[in-house]
Amino acid sequence: MFGKLRKVFGRSGGAAVPLKEIRRSFDESATDEEHFPSTIDPRIYHVKLIAETFGPLDGKRVLDVGSGKGRFARVLKERNPGSRICAFDLSEAMLRFVPPGIGAVSGTMTALPFASGAFDAAYATESLEHAVEIDRAVEEMCRVVKTGGRLVIIDKNAEHWGKLKTPEWEKWFRREELEKLLGRHCRSVSSQFISYWEDVEPDGMFLAWIAEK
Ligand SMILES: C[S@@+](CC[C@H](N)C(=O)[O-])C[C@H]1O[C@@H](n2cnc3c(N)ncnc32)[C@H](O)[C@@H]1O
Repeated sequence: MFGKLRKVFGRSGGAAVPLKEIRRSFDESATDEEHFPSTIDPRIYHVKLIAETFGPLDGKRVLDVGSGKGRFARVLKERNPGSRICAFDLSEAMLRFVPPGIGAVSGTMTALPFASGAFDAAYATESLEHAVEIDRAVEEMCRVVKTGGRLVIIDKNAEHWGKLKTPEWEKWFRREELEKLLGRHCRSVSSQFISYWEDVEPDGMFLAWIAEK
């Protein structure tokens, strides 16, 4: 019965919860280092994929959309000291953990406070799933990247919805869903299943979408 209802109504989440409630939830979670870590093992494939997609970043401007504590930005900055990386997040409590040398700006990814084409590259790891207005967030990410710039979105696959506990506003994505949204603004889009480790076959939970504007 509930399985059936979930299939009809709640299959990929995305309830319209007020932004301030979502912010409060992440502000409260900022001290939870176990579930919201401030560092990441740089060998994890998610990091590798972003680094390889973007290439050398010295002199480049990069936006981490929904950065949390900036664990991905930290690795990119360490490897590319001459890059200008901005960690952007709804939660100021999360941003307090962003290391020195990386910009920290708060706000919502559905209305990015940056000029069009301000960045050479942008990425979002497990944050778009919280944006609620997904079309708007993808549009904004694409807007702030310059023509020819690259974007990476890493998030969870809607086909696996229900396998993890999620807040009511969270939404996971079908492969073709985000390909279509990115395709409205980018000249090339691809997607692939990924796992944490390159030599481990993906189980289908994580997807990476790569686009060039
Ligand atoms: C699961 S965490 C992922 C953080 C980071 N990307 C990482 O992989 O470590 C999701 C983050 O998205 C942020 N977030 C949620 N809704 C947002 C919004 N509308 N605009 C910007 N950031 C948002 C949260 O505050 C939180 O830090």
